[in-house]
Amino acid sequence: MDKLNPKPGMTDVEMKPAKMHDKPTLMEGGQYIVEGDEEAKSTTLIFSMSEEVGALANALKVFQAQNVNLLHIESRPSRRDAKYEFMVECDSSRGNLGAAMEQLRANCSYFQVISRNHLDNKDTVPWFPRKIADLDRFANQILSYGSELDADHPGFTDPVYRKRRKYFADIAYNYKHNQEIPRVDYTQEETRTWGMVFRNLTKLYKTHACKEHNEVFPLLMENCGYREDNIPQLQDVSNFLRDCTGFTLRPVAGLLSSRDFLAGLAFRVFHSTQYIRHSSKPLYTPEPDVCHELLGHVPLFADPAFAQFSQEIGLASLGAPDEFIEKLATCYWFTIEFGICRQNGELKAYGAGLLSSFGELEYCLSDKPELRPFEPIKTSVQKYPITEYQPVYYVAESFENAKQKMIQFAATIPRPFSVRYNPYTQSMEILNSKPQIQSLIREINCDIQVLMDALVKLN
Ligand SMILES: [Fe+2]
Repeated sequence: MDKLNPKPGMTDVEMKPAKMHDKPTLMEGGQYIVEGDEEAKSTTLIFSMSEEVGALANALKVFQAQNVNLLHIESRPSRRDAKYEFMVECDSSRGNLGAAMEQLRANCSYFQVISRNHLDNKDTVPWFPRKIADLDRFANQILSYGSELDADHPGFTDPVYRKRRKYFADIAYNYKHNQEIPRVDYTQEETRTWGMVFRNLTKLYKTHACKEHNEVFPLLMENCGYREDNIPQLQDVSNFLRDCTGFTLRPVAGLLSSRDFLAGLAFRVFHSTQYIRHSSKPLYTPEPDVCHELLGHVPLFADPAFAQFSQEIGLASLGAPDEFIEKLATCYWFTIEFGICRQNGELKAYGAGLLSSFGELEYCLSDKPELRPFEPIKTSVQKYPITEYQPVYYVAESFENAKQKMIQFAATIPRPFSVRYNPYTQSMEILNSKPQIQSLIREINCDIQVLMDALVKLN
């Protein structure tokens, strides 16, 4: 067992997100990922020098002059320019690493701090997944395992339900990227619970849900087995979403940290539960369940504009400082979970927390709650309750408008790079050097040519 693969049932402390190994590893695709214990005092730098001959020797002199001990050195041809780049892991507990970094930065054509365990340093870029399979690395770093219920959970004293929850948690725990999500034979009792939720909510959708939800819902009935007497299978729904917007579902064994959950959205991956709430309280659940995911979230992820908006929140989160993760998670809360939008002069619900709650769906469109326009700068610092109806909802003029606002907000997040998702390789491109940006310009130029050609033909 290693720290990236905690066993089910571990305590919260042992399950703290992403603590890393001692040694740097060269990952597939030439991406360096350095991992170390929080208490370790090492900093890893990647740089390429302007001069060719003796470049490394000169860099090493800088560390020597500042009395900085090096723990590991690697070199490789640079993908950014024609030179070599070096990765060094420095012992930051001794010497003047700050001065060495300043000196190096001034003499390097490329300089990046990849990992730093000094919590007081502002240059830290937290680890984030670079390719979609990297989601496997944090999938099991959960804050609580799915079968561990709180004492006030409706299923707490029901051993059959608890056993069932462990069954679902184990499916998710063993799941790896690219695998089929195992199909589940839901029991009659589970299907009855689903049926009750389905029947009640679908009565309200026509009048209370946004038009995107109402447009997609019949397609889900047609293609994915959305029926009162059938709980749809996650794999079928995931296939449907992939055809619509490229979004996919992956099962999750428990509660992920906000950073990890949002990182999934950057890859158009939604971490979904597969279990259902306890049958004793079919219209109440203290946590997300398959009713919430399938009835609330899924229809919207099939809409291209909403999918793009959701991905923007995810992209903004990659490598963002902790305080911004909290802000982005709050924006997520007030949009993807509890968002209201204006359509043809009427207010409609598009947040999954509303679309999966019979009571709150009616309440949110009544005259009781306060409504404010969605403005990420303000919305991101709004406090909210998690166990009662929201006192304030934020209204989006459209998903396109909300997306533009999120992009503007993301630009205020202090990161030394921009990210761009490459859907062909399902990986994140880090844009932080001239050659990468030039290559992007070439790609955009090609797209513009296609656009011009299409316009000419239309005329
Ligand atoms: Fe949700």
